[in-house]
Amino acid sequence: MKDHQEERLRAIRAAADHVQSRTDIRPRIGLILGSGLGVLGNDIPGADAIDYGDVPGFPVSTVEGHAGRLVLGMLGGDGPEGDGGVARPVVIMQGRFHYYEGYTMEEVVFPVRVMKLLGVETLLVTNAAGGVNTGFAPGDLMVITDHIKFFTDSPLRGPNIGEFGPRFNDMSTAYTPELRELAIDVARRVGVPLREGVYAHMAGPSFETPAEINMLRTLGADAVGMSTVPEVITAAHAGMRVLGISAISNMAAGILDQPLNHEEVMEAGRMVQDTFVKLIKAIVEEL
Ligand code: HPA
Repeated sequence: MKDHQEERLRAIRAAADHVQSRTDIRPRIGLILGSGLGVLGNDIPGADAIDYGDVPGFPVSTVEGHAGRLVLGMLGGDGPEGDGGVARPVVIMQGRFHYYEGYTMEEVVFPVRVMKLLGVETLLVTNAAGGVNTGFAPGDLMVITDHIKFFTDSPLRGPNIGEFGPRFNDMSTAYTPELRELAIDVARRVGVPLREGVYAHMAGPSFETPAEINMLRTLGADAVGMSTVPEVITAAHAGMRVLGISAISNMAAGILDQPLNHEEVMEAGRMVQDTFVKLIKAIVEEL
């Protein structure tokens, strides 16, 4: 078991070393972009892009709509708002690894640990999610206040890698309260409506049943999705500050009289793209 832990740490270090050898950017902020939201990484002037396949130890992304590369560059400072924001060094994951693709939880969170070794202190995670709160509508953006996870293993299961954090880590402020407040302030300033709520993690790949959605709502969930939570647990374990934003792509199963499909999720991502990019850039400038 100890060998396994040392082996993992070596692999994470090797990946971080490779990334550092390919760029002069020393990121302090990491972004993980969800379904249909990856566009943010496409228009950073002078950015260095590294395919996941080039990074030793990195899993390779398989889902449609996930480009599968790391983009390192200076984000912000160039917004159409022209409000004098300052660009920040970031590392962006364009495309993430999902449990439902068949990766182990350890693989799913591998890049978060690489980010930590690159010097990332603040992680912005985004996703497309189903609306569980019946007051929500597709196209809404939601700051994640907390999460509910069961049914899947913890990414921290197994020997603890003490270099990252403690065996039993606190999750009471995993979604950093100051960052949530900052997001709400910035959203108000740039005129983007922003909701707040609890994100429930489900394993997928099936969308949920209407009964499961009723259950999640009863338990206090506002949105549901198949990502984000493993990464947030890993980031919290490693002492990173976290801000999570969901783009509501559809109403969850059973709320509307219509079937769910992945195209709808992707289309909703494209719909909110411009607003989303504007908000994220404005937040990054304030970090
Ligand atoms: N359920 C789970 N994951 C999702 C959904 C959903 O309705 N929409 C986007 N990701």
